[in-house]
Amino acid sequence: MDYLELLNKSMDTAKPVLGRGTPADYIPALACADPYAFGMALATVDGEVHGVGEWRTPFSIQSISKLFTLALALAHGGSPLWQRVGREPSGNPFNSLIQLESEQGVPRNPFINAGALVVTDALLTLTGDARGAVVDLLRQESGSEGIDTDLAVAESEAAHGHRNAALAHFMASFGNLHNPVDDVLKHYFEQCSVAADCRDLAMAGCILARHGVRGDGTRLLGRGDAKRINAVLLTCGTYDAAGEFAYRVGLPGKSGVGGGILAIVPGRGAVCAWSPGLDPVGNSVGAMAALEDFTHRSDWSVF
Ligand code: DON
Repeated sequence: MDYLELLNKSMDTAKPVLGRGTPADYIPALACADPYAFGMALATVDGEVHGVGEWRTPFSIQSISKLFTLALALAHGGSPLWQRVGREPSGNPFNSLIQLESEQGVPRNPFINAGALVVTDALLTLTGDARGAVVDLLRQESGSEGIDTDLAVAESEAAHGHRNAALAHFMASFGNLHNPVDDVLKHYFEQCSVAADCRDLAMAGCILARHGVRGDGTRLLGRGDAKRINAVLLTCGTYDAAGEFAYRVGLPGKSGVGGGILAIVPGRGAVCAWSPGLDPVGNSVGAMAALEDFTHRSDWSVF
């Protein structure tokens, strides 16, 4: 298969819709991103990497980090985590507070903000450095030593993070955070503010395509945990648009408000597309269009 030709066609398909999205502005440091920027990369399980457009331009990974914190927490023996966070779609916006009270401080899934805060808390307990664990994993899988938190974005998130602070304090009141709230929030903001490019994320996503095995052949996750993460990505990775994403793209995937979407093709590889313009749910308009075209045009699908 000529992957480069395939990626170029998907980029051409996405280009006309790029201006339809709006960069996230509730985190001021993200608001100035160019909605017409676009990049896309594909990495295969056996180490081939291809990319088009601005595939080597770092962007804010935001909620894509939640996939890696979950993988790391489970890898460090965090399966009791599933008593503290559910695995059902929420049907609500990613930063909603509504369900937490009626569900006694147990978030619906690990990919909405409340659930990700619980996972970060668990990873902090297990490793002592949740943000550092994510950065190390991304650096090791991609070979890009420069991957790091963008502190200007992290500060911007912290300064405007009232909803996340409310979610964290509320869960703490139910005993569902074990570390001090301010520590959990700091690690959460700093993991979301990591800057990486499409190539880096596609390569790191291959852990899930290899059913839990890292690029160097060592195992990060049990095969069962990799299967479960892919399943929860499919049902919850793109929030209350997970049904639309499954319909249009048909892959486990995780979006972030920086405009990236990382999609996993189990047994084959991972594809990351990026464009900062978001739809009202918070998913990138251009990345979604490109991934839809990609899975339509190729046999890279789980369906
Ligand atoms: O906590 C937040 O709101 C952001 N740091 C992450 C949200 C996000 O990326 C949701 N994705 N679509």
